[in-house]
Amino acid sequence: MLFKELEGLESIGADNALYMDDRATYQHFHLSADRQKEKTMKKKLVVLASAVLICVIQPSMAEEKIALDKGKHHHHQGMPTVDKRISLNLAPAMKQHQLANMRNHLDAVRRIIEAVSTDQFEAASQIASEDLGLTTRMEGMCNSFENESFKELALTFHKSGDELAAVLKSGNAQKSLQALNETMTFCVNCHATYRQ
Ligand code: HEC
Repeated sequence: MLFKELEGLESIGADNALYMDDRATYQHFHLSADRQKEKTMKKKLVVLASAVLICVIQPSMAEEKIALDKGKHHHHQGMPTVDKRISLNLAPAMKQHQLANMRNHLDAVRRIIEAVSTDQFEAASQIASEDLGLTTRMEGMCNSFENESFKELALTFHKSGDELAAVLKSGNAQKSLQALNETMTFCVNCHATYRQ
């Protein structure tokens, strides 16, 4: 019973032995203690060997996994490394001008949503017509592009901004969302096709 309890202890001091009055038990105890030490040593060796193996194998497995992951991205997501959209070949100043306009378009969409969410259809309609509609300024901007199909798409987009303004004026939330969706489809389509 005592052995059982002692079994599993990694090192057993002589102090423990003194508690045993029976000589045989004492020897037995020492024997099993030695065997125990031997077992423990073997275990330690196995653990050490495994650790060495893991250290050697692990990095190459990690490398393989990275390579696999890279392959996955390449094949599954099909992310091209080249931008295949049509370039507008814009001059640096024009690029900045266009991007500023674009950021304003994005904010206009946000402000329209904000106004509709608080039942301010009149205000929403005004934002749509001033910031997304075909104003003289926007028409001039669109006409300055050399790419004809881009120009056409840009003009159609701004016309849809005017239609959105008209729908918003009616105060119908559902129809307004449908019109906003239509306008935003032009944003998505143009971005998918053209780049600066
Ligand atoms: C007729 C084409 C066209 C339409 C319509 C259009 N955009 Fe753009 N937009 C562009 C191009 C071209 C770029 C530059 C993209 C590039 O070079 O990667 C751009 C860039 C942007 C950017 C990036 C701005 C920055 O500072 O980097 C935002 C934001 C943006 N557009 C928002 C919108 C929103 C919102 C709409 C619709 C309400 C919209 N655009 C409609 C052509 C368009």
